[in-house]
Amino acid sequence: MHAVERYVKRGFDMIESIRRAYTDLEGDYAFVIGRADDERLFALKKGSGLVIGLGEDFTCVSSDLPSILPLTRRIVRVRDGEIVALRHGSVEIHRVEDGRVVEREPEEDNESMDAAQKGGYPHYMLKEISEQPKAAQDLVHLLEASPHVTPMIEAMTTARHLYLVGCGTSYHACLLGSVYLARLARRAAIPVLAPQFIAQYCPAVEPGDVGIFVSQSGETKDVLNAVEAARGRGMRILGLVNVLGSTLTRESEVYLPLACGYEISVPATKTFTNQVVAFLALALRMGRHPSDIVAQVPHLLEKTLEEVEPQVRALEPSLKGHDDLYVLGYGLTYPIALEGALKLKEVTYAHCEGMLSTEFKHGPLSAVTQDYPVLFVGGPDNVPLLVSGINETTCRGGRAIAIAEEDPRLQVNAHDLILLPQAGALLNPLLATIPLQLLAYFHGVARGYDPDFPRNLSKTLTVD
Ligand code: M6R
Repeated sequence: MHAVERYVKRGFDMIESIRRAYTDLEGDYAFVIGRADDERLFALKKGSGLVIGLGEDFTCVSSDLPSILPLTRRIVRVRDGEIVALRHGSVEIHRVEDGRVVEREPEEDNESMDAAQKGGYPHYMLKEISEQPKAAQDLVHLLEASPHVTPMIEAMTTARHLYLVGCGTSYHACLLGSVYLARLARRAAIPVLAPQFIAQYCPAVEPGDVGIFVSQSGETKDVLNAVEAARGRGMRILGLVNVLGSTLTRESEVYLPLACGYEISVPATKTFTNQVVAFLALALRMGRHPSDIVAQVPHLLEKTLEEVEPQVRALEPSLKGHDDLYVLGYGLTYPIALEGALKLKEVTYAHCEGMLSTEFKHGPLSAVTQDYPVLFVGGPDNVPLLVSGINETTCRGGRAIAIAEEDPRLQVNAHDLILLPQAGALLNPLLATIPLQLLAYFHGVARGYDPDFPRNLSKTLTVD
């Protein structure tokens, strides 16, 4: 703002002032600037995403395409080194280099508008949770026909080192993807949070390394920074992305779309499920296993939604008054514990920590007092370990809530049991995600919060 104002005060017009300020500014940004006595708004960016929407009698600008689509489907993508002057009925793009006007035809975004409607649901979050079977089905079909799966697997197979990089929920999918790849394809893959990738692994990256960058939005700045750093070291960039046309799709040598349609609610739900489905499908294909197990996912998700919703509704009131809780998992369910805890804290504002169940006794167990809630996400292949963790909690007076397939040992030891359909160890994590999403949703609503737009958060984080 002041960088531009400095030139305005010297008598330059707005375009000229912004051009001059552009060369002064360092770092990445996207912003809009205006003058009280000028009807135009000016938008510019460097590194970050910025999209213009052209409506019938208005124009708008956002760093996040899905936020524009309910208003208009005609869009113009802004590039680095451009200044856009928006009037209420038109836009004009200028090059920073010489101030000249650039002609660019608007694009039509033809993705379904259904995502932008609540479709009878009280919140987008509940609608998007309910859409998971359909989204998974669409992805399964897409993966069967996609010409990009084979080159992706080739790159993963021949990689010197393979990294799975993301933030937040997308990182949790990377964690689970890494377990699938080790178990099913005997391929070690390093899951890492995008900023930590830069700090920890980038210095060791060499040509021949491959990174799968995972992002719902494809615009998360932390992820794009990691892409840039990785490319600088010669890494091959692959993507798993939901928003087509996003920066990550353009930056990736090959990418797989997540086929979820737009996700409006800030808490990611259906995109997490499809990230996991994509990793499972890739791991099965890479390990030369039949892929029929993936075809079962949509039906099992549907069954889980039906069966767990009443159980979660019944459990939810018992969390009232608890502002602290833990979610524990192990092996394949460890990423689900992290993801469930993230959903709970994001939507309910309670402090909820996800953790490897075996780590609980190394310190956090001291938090457990009478009725203290601890959720255990159990896989069918680790019931004895689960029972041992449950007993560590219950013998200190804590309340153990298990989310698992039916097993008499859990029925005897846990206070509450949310029963999942029988699906086996590989699919169990996908199903276990659903009651945690629903619990976060119902509990957040019961606490009086809007689950779609939690305070202090935004859907797409385009800042460092
Ligand atoms: O668009 P991305 O997948 O790159 O976003 C990453 C995180 O910001 C995102 O997953 C965030 O953690 C979600 N709001 C969690 O529900």
